Amino acid sequence: MRRAHTAGDIEALAQLCRRTLETNWHEGVRPSDGAPFAYTSPSPGHYPWQWYWDSCFTAVVWRRFDAERSRRELESLLAAQRDDGFIGHTIFWDRPLRGRRRFTYNVTSPEAPMTASIQPPALAWAWRIAVGDPAEVPGIARQLDWLSEHRDLDRDGLIWIVQPDESGLDASPQFDSIWGRHAHGLPGFVRLVHRNRRLGYDLRRVVAAGGPVVCEVSLNVIHNLSRLALGRTSLTPSIIERMYDDRAGIFRPISQPRTRRPAAVTWTALAPLALPDLPQHIGRRLIEQHLLDEKRFWLPVPPPSVSASDPSFSLDDRGFLGLRRYWRGPTWINSAWLLWLGLVRLGYSEQAAELVRRVSAAVLGAGLREYYNPISGAGMGAVDFAWSTLVMELIDPDGRAPSAYLER
Ligand code: GLC
Repeated sequence: MRRAHTAGDIEALAQLCRRTLETNWHEGVRPSDGAPFAYTSPSPGHYPWQWYWDSCFTAVVWRRFDAERSRRELESLLAAQRDDGFIGHTIFWDRPLRGRRRFTYNVTSPEAPMTASIQPPALAWAWRIAVGDPAEVPGIARQLDWLSEHRDLDRDGLIWIVQPDESGLDASPQFDSIWGRHAHGLPGFVRLVHRNRRLGYDLRRVVAAGGPVVCEVSLNVIHNLSRLALGRTSLTPSIIERMYDDRAGIFRPISQPRTRRPAAVTWTALAPLALPDLPQHIGRRLIEQHLLDEKRFWLPVPPPSVSASDPSFSLDDRGFLGLRRYWRGPTWINSAWLLWLGLVRLGYSEQAAELVRRVSAAVLGAGLREYYNPISGAGMGAVDFAWSTLVMELIDPDGRAPSAYLER
């Protein structure tokens, strides 16, 4: 077998990652109230603000270079938290919304300090990985309580979203059959945003207005990792009961109202691989039947964000008016990391090493890009993209990886 990487590769990647995190670091005080903040911009030219799950990912990597920055990055999310526990998808800090974005962003007023939408709630898990015990920080539990109160539609612990971008997977084709012409990056999306602004991004009001609302797999996997990090009961049994399609051997989103066409098969069909308590037989089937299949997910740079055998798979990320349509085929490093956790836990060590070799070769070749062409490895999307530094988790693994970092 080819060696996964050399010591020189690890050093080169570590230097690149450190430099990028340092360059993207932004700190100061909010002019309106003097609240201090510090975070890593996802990509300074393209994404200036603090994005919730990006911050969780970069805090994970910061612990390798400067653990104090992991803490400060996550504390900034807590500094933005509303008294009722809510934390938004994007926090604007000292760079208020301007121009056309005032009309198209998920805000209920142009002066809002953050969006009224959510992103996958990774804070408790990231805190456990990078800082310490999240149960010692009341704001972290309060955010999950807010989600339980406001976003748990059926009182079974699973969290629902009112817009595709709340999943972090904006234009993923799993949403095409659900949101149709209102999906992310299509002209109708602006109408969806305006409707949800009117309804205050309130799940129950959106349901009452006819939906659609979605229970998405990877968001619930991340939510569950955060619950486990806090010592709460696992949602894995509910995720299996409600989202596992035993016939196909994959997980699927649920929507309300239900759609006639089944959702496209994307990487999130395999996302429960990140869960340490996923039953082995389900995990092995996800890996052997889907992840390692060269016609589906085992491409030269795995895993593509959409199964290569799904009709929606595309390497073209341009949509209406040249706007980017994300998550429709290219490979993202955060999803590579989450699926790799399952390979490692279930003992697929050769395949785990092969995934690391392929992903790290793409990053070494193309730099820290937002996502990568899964066939050629070419870099795509934004440059100096902060969460692609998660490649460090792959190439220089932490001993806690087999337990999804939950082992104390
Ligand atoms: C894109 C991604 C989203 C991410 C944001 C900032 O919108 O789809 O997941 O949080 O960029 O990087």
